[in-house]
Amino acid sequence: MIKKRVLVTGGAGFLGSHLCDVLLAAGHDVLCVDNYFTGRKSNIAHQLGNPNFEAMRHDITFPLYVEVDEIYNLACPASPVHYQFDPVQTTKTSVTGAINTLGLAKRVKAKILQASTSEVYGDPTVHPQDESYWGHVNPIGPRACYDEGKRAAETLFFDYYRQHKTRIKVVRIFNTYGPRMHPQDGRVVSNFIMQALRGEDITLFGNGSQTRAFCFVSDLVDGFVRMMETGDDVVGPINIGNPHEITVRHLAEIIIRKVGSKSRIVEKPLPVDDPMQRCPDITRATKTLGWTPRVSLEDGLDTTITYFANLLGSNQTEPAARRSAT
Ligand SMILES: NC(=O)c1ccc[n+]([C@@H]2O[C@H](COP(=O)([O-])OP(=O)(O)OC[C@H]3O[C@@H](n4cnc5c(N)ncnc54)[C@H](O)[C@@H]3O)[C@@H](O)[C@H]2O)c1
Repeated sequence: MIKKRVLVTGGAGFLGSHLCDVLLAAGHDVLCVDNYFTGRKSNIAHQLGNPNFEAMRHDITFPLYVEVDEIYNLACPASPVHYQFDPVQTTKTSVTGAINTLGLAKRVKAKILQASTSEVYGDPTVHPQDESYWGHVNPIGPRACYDEGKRAAETLFFDYYRQHKTRIKVVRIFNTYGPRMHPQDGRVVSNFIMQALRGEDITLFGNGSQTRAFCFVSDLVDGFVRMMETGDDVVGPINIGNPHEITVRHLAEIIIRKVGSKSRIVEKPLPVDDPMQRCPDITRATKTLGWTPRVSLEDGLDTTITYFANLLGSNQTEPAARRSAT
């Protein structure tokens, strides 16, 4: 194994902190950069004594000068409730953040991986979505700060690749869940589990017939690392997600059963631009990375429910401090 210096932006977040754990376990030197907007110090506290780990408070909309071999660019709030809190900053994080991290990669000749999203497909008109689909995105709606920001970031990645020969990797992440999700992020898995654990009504947006496909965090991180290890000719985009599709109502029923909760399911109006169907075609990931998800929804939910139950027990569920717009 060659020890590498790896930068993880957004490293104190849900996915970033798991990625830091995996990279450290593999013997690498990890620099975690985060402004703690949605990330939490508790996600990385267990690594603070590790001599191979360093945490830096920094906002990636400002340039960063460090010497690294690889960069995973994950910094960006990921849930609608967080990215719509300060939409201008969300676009800046994706676009200016991409310019800054790509500039760094160019300067130090690092490989750089972008955590893009299935949201680049918008409310898709093809199903399941493969990487050749250009998407169906409302450019002026309330989700556009995230969707269009991520689309512009992809554009920047591919232009740095064509113009500067920067060694890029783009993965499009589909719904991922697991321990260390923010309990107040309003995403469907964390919402349902928290509501079920508290015995509150489970809120379905619409009638719950919309479908989603959920990937467990360890599978996702495995996909990240495999992508980074590919040769320079593999640039993506590559979908990473679990193609096992279920309705949101069925998800609520599974969670109620697993928690043994008395919660009732209630329907609320659908949010604007909420996609009706979302499911990855992972043929490219399977062929190129030899990757397929391994953790079943049943097993992943058990682990996630235990995490949230412990969090509720220790009363650490308040939102992370929010800083004002920069
Ligand atoms: N979890 C998913 O299902 C999912 C799906 C698609 C894409 N993604 C992408 O994966 C990445 C990580 O998502 P996550 O689920 O871990 O979300 P998260 O909110 O837990 O993590 C994002 C991290 O980025 C940090 N951050 C935000 N703005 C920043 C800035 N300007 N400078 C420095 N740090 C900043 C946050 O504090 C947080 O730690 C995001 O880029 C997200 O768009 C996630």
